[in-house]
Amino acid sequence: MAKAKTVYACTECGGQAPKWQGQCPNCNAWNTLVEVAAAAPATRFENVAGARSAVTPLSSVSPRATLRVPTGLDEFDRVLGGGLVPGGVILLGGDPGIGKSTLLLQAAAALGAVHRALYVTGEESTEQIALRAHRLGLVNAPIELLAEVQLESIVAAVNATSPEVVVVDSIQTIYTEALTSAPGSVAQVRECAAQLTRLAKQRGIVVIFVGHVTKEGAIAGPRVLEHIVDTVLYFEGDAHSSFRLVRAMKNRFGAANELGVFAMTERGLRGVSNPSALFLSQHAEGVAGSAIVATLEGSRPLLVEVQALVDPIQGGMARRLAVGLDAQRLALLLAVLHRHGDVDTSGYDVFVNAVGGVRILEPAADLAVMLAVCSSLRNKPLPGKALIFGEVGLAGEVRPVQRGQERIREAAKLGFDTFLIPNANKPKQAIENAKIIGVDRIDQAIDWLRE
Ligand SMILES: Nc1ncnc2c1ncn2[C@@H]1O[C@H](COP(=O)(O)OP(=O)(O)OP(=O)(O)O)[C@@H](O)[C@H]1O
Ligand SMILES: [Mg+2]
Repeated sequence: MAKAKTVYACTECGGQAPKWQGQCPNCNAWNTLVEVAAAAPATRFENVAGARSAVTPLSSVSPRATLRVPTGLDEFDRVLGGGLVPGGVILLGGDPGIGKSTLLLQAAAALGAVHRALYVTGEESTEQIALRAHRLGLVNAPIELLAEVQLESIVAAVNATSPEVVVVDSIQTIYTEALTSAPGSVAQVRECAAQLTRLAKQRGIVVIFVGHVTKEGAIAGPRVLEHIVDTVLYFEGDAHSSFRLVRAMKNRFGAANELGVFAMTERGLRGVSNPSALFLSQHAEGVAGSAIVATLEGSRPLLVEVQALVDPIQGGMARRLAVGLDAQRLALLLAVLHRHGDVDTSGYDVFVNAVGGVRILEPAADLAVMLAVCSSLRNKPLPGKALIFGEVGLAGEVRPVQRGQERIREAAKLGFDTFLIPNANKPKQAIENAKIIGVDRIDQAIDWLRE
């Protein structure tokens, strides 16, 4: 088969060169040229420059109600913002073996009862998929399978069988004949994703890509992949625990940062509908270095235990390590603790961990991290069954967080009786049997620990 003509385009400025070279002739950036098909520009917009499109006033366009297609998995629907949207393109990334194929096979099986679902597998054979389906109890599920890695054949199969939902596992294995570069290369991933996205928009079908992640946890391949798709979901979780979290990092059809919680079982992923107490470890009594924070993940509060270990340095540099929390932010909080709280950790290694493989992204955990550090340093547990939240600024001020009442209510339901929170988040009415301590500055919080 004759190869289509290819050119090289710069990932920085979009400038083109007829052959590969180290430096972009347009913007002079180095190593930015990747191969693209010359004939079809890699864009999901059908009307390229030169085509005539009518200009329409916004007021005359009637919004099309987005029809949601429930996947049959409640927690998955929650992250998607209520279900799949026809024409929507979703990217699901996550560590190897975390359960991406499992989740999508389950979703395809549930969807298949009503909507035609096609599962394209580029990584596993159809027998392997059948084996998994057998384990999950989905042998008779109405799913169509296609073991294929060539884009053109996949597009032909979609056109021939007209499925409503297409799963592509994974986008890194798919290649197009139009490009000469190897499957999985930036150029291939970009072009294949763009073509499949165009297909989804043209036919009004849902396309779900599985994406590999790099060592650092970002989706492998071009950043542009995340821009092309409508929704980016990340699978998170600790490989040693059975809980799995699916987080919406971007969603054109719903709230970002929404979280779906699953438990991995022999029979596949099961939704956990009430996860707020999942990430608390069960201590019989208070332990030093442990603080419970109420974070707000998407639309519901989640109670997470933050643990800190502060230990004298064993020679060399003081180490600061954060698991499930931002390490840069930890360094910043330790500096604030020193300057405004008079707590010096310079002679100590500081390790902090969010229990259960959760990643806490919001600064509402600041106050809890700082108090866990103080508690470990002094080897003194926090008083009572305490819940802590609040953002801490560089000037040592404790700032309010959004939807504080909801966090307090959730914790009160679970038997928390002491609340250390920003003054501005203090509820107007007293809560029965609850001691609420509002603070404006970090030193007030540390004083509370001294009591
Ligand atoms: N018999 C079993 N009992 C319980 N859990 C199982 C069993 N078999 C597999 N699993 C779980 O399923 C996970 C593999 O899931 P899956 O193949 O869907 O992951 P994936 O994200 O698609 O991986 P990859 O990146 O390799 O494609 C395993 O890590 C394990 O947790
Ligand atoms: Mg897989």
